[in-house]
Amino acid sequence: MTIPKRMWWQNSSVYQIYPASFKDSNGDGVGDIPGIISELDYIQSIGVDVIWICPMYDSPQVDMGYDVRDYEDVYRPYGTVQDMEVLIEQTHARGMKIILDLVVNHTSDQHKWFLESRSSKNNPKRDWYIWRPARYVDGQRKPPNNWIGNFGGSCWEWDEHTQEYYLHLFCPEQPDLNWENSATRQAIYDSAMEFWLQRGVDGFRVDTVNMYSKGDMVDAPITDPKSEWQFAGFQYCNGPRMHEFLSEMNQVLQKYDAMTVGECPHTPDMAKVLKYVSRKEKQLNMVFQFDVVDIGQGPYKFQTTPFNWGLPQFKHAIETTQNLIRGNDGWTTVFLENHDQSRSVSRFTSDAPQHRVAGGKLLSLMMSALSGTMFIYQGQELGMVNFPMEWSMDEYKDVDSSNYYKMVADRSHNDPKEMHVAKTSLQHLARDHARVPMSWSDAPNAGFSAAKPWMRALDDAAICNAKQQQSDKSSVLSFWKRMLQLRKQYSDLFVFGEFDLLDKSNLEVFTFTKTWQNKKALVVLNFTAEEQKLVYPTEVRSQKSELLVSTLDTPASDKLAAYEGRIFMLES
Ligand code: GLC
Ligand code: CA
Repeated sequence: MTIPKRMWWQNSSVYQIYPASFKDSNGDGVGDIPGIISELDYIQSIGVDVIWICPMYDSPQVDMGYDVRDYEDVYRPYGTVQDMEVLIEQTHARGMKIILDLVVNHTSDQHKWFLESRSSKNNPKRDWYIWRPARYVDGQRKPPNNWIGNFGGSCWEWDEHTQEYYLHLFCPEQPDLNWENSATRQAIYDSAMEFWLQRGVDGFRVDTVNMYSKGDMVDAPITDPKSEWQFAGFQYCNGPRMHEFLSEMNQVLQKYDAMTVGECPHTPDMAKVLKYVSRKEKQLNMVFQFDVVDIGQGPYKFQTTPFNWGLPQFKHAIETTQNLIRGNDGWTTVFLENHDQSRSVSRFTSDAPQHRVAGGKLLSLMMSALSGTMFIYQGQELGMVNFPMEWSMDEYKDVDSSNYYKMVADRSHNDPKEMHVAKTSLQHLARDHARVPMSWSDAPNAGFSAAKPWMRALDDAAICNAKQQQSDKSSVLSFWKRMLQLRKQYSDLFVFGEFDLLDKSNLEVFTFTKTWQNKKALVVLNFTAEEQKLVYPTEVRSQKSELLVSTLDTPASDKLAAYEGRIFMLES
């Protein structure tokens, strides 16, 4: 196979920003765009190349901006279109690029398109959303099918006024757009994409990108007999017209040479994933697969207990996403966190005070050695961790968390044991952990705001904050900076190389090599809180090795410390 030409977005690291929680510039307790602008130098100093801004569009904020009321305006507490223009310009002035979140599977129910659509059955925009008549079972009105929404409950909402149901795969306030209608698609391209591309954005993270084509919408198989509503992800994801829609969308993107990274849940079939990201298919540049971040989750994500997975599973998930690019023209991504995930130190290592720094560095070293475009979520570069079990349920602001807690309360009639299990799971997995204010300093409200923030700031900002870590050579932040440099320096191996897992079934240590032509690196990661013997796998034992980097300043010769990671360069 000929090696495809390298594109700027391949060897880029992307820093994801959650506007509400990044930095508050005007003391109203909510982060904003001027706040982001004020920290661009900090972001640049980490060594990233691109920033990704989570939805900053005008929105009633039922799902933190993933319910867009107007694509062509900005949520006022965050700022204005003009502020965005300054942000774009200031990002470019520092040699970085900027991508936005493209949320076009659904809009807010307050979007003018939906207001028109719901106004009458013969409104010209009626068909811009997905309307269906009721089913009647024993004379009782029922939704058109049994699908469960992503935040629980039926994904159909009854509209009294026009006596039909509309589809919403997420909240009832997030009606799904009808991509089957070509006028709708054109309006999406113009309003949500071109409006911002013309203002200089360099691409998009594309929300729920594989859900636009819903297929025939028949009932889902019954997998949760206790519920009236059933998981249907395998039906509404990757529907029959997906590739046609994405090819069309790509024609708009191509005009601007824009990059795309699509969110691609419920797609375990690698052939399907490859079809989205293969260069010759001209669909998306890359996607976020869920193999790694879904490990240990229950059938309904929170129906599980913390650490309900083993290291072999974790390795396998990483291997799967790494192998996506083996011997073909596809591209992959590396990420452990985003605004929908709890903190990686808490999830995959240990957030105990004596281990959290080591854990943060271990994950940094691992990620920096994996192929694909790398994504870092705000605060991850500091090793921020989940908020503690002591915090009350009032501190969880996300609909996903509160809906789940309510569901368990209803089903168990408030059984204290079940409520404790539910809260334990939320403390480990809730999206809220990523959404607390960024820990800037040990000042009040973690230096995020002069006022009480919209979400409580972490108490441990006293010991884990950007200000302190910037001047501390042994901090997680300093380690990330070093790793991002090494990743660039050895990009053949780390960004583009082939991944080979060497110790599939080892429960404590994760060992892999990266290979590019005649170059090879060996990566060894101790995922336990105990020392482990340093063993060179048989595959590489005969080769001379030289230590490139360790998460420790003075690593032992024959042992790995708790949560220590190392990279060796091998001579062939
Ligand atoms: C994506 C977003 C998530 C949002 C959902 C609905 O999964 O990442 O935050 O709730 O889409 O738009
Ligand atoms: Ca503000």
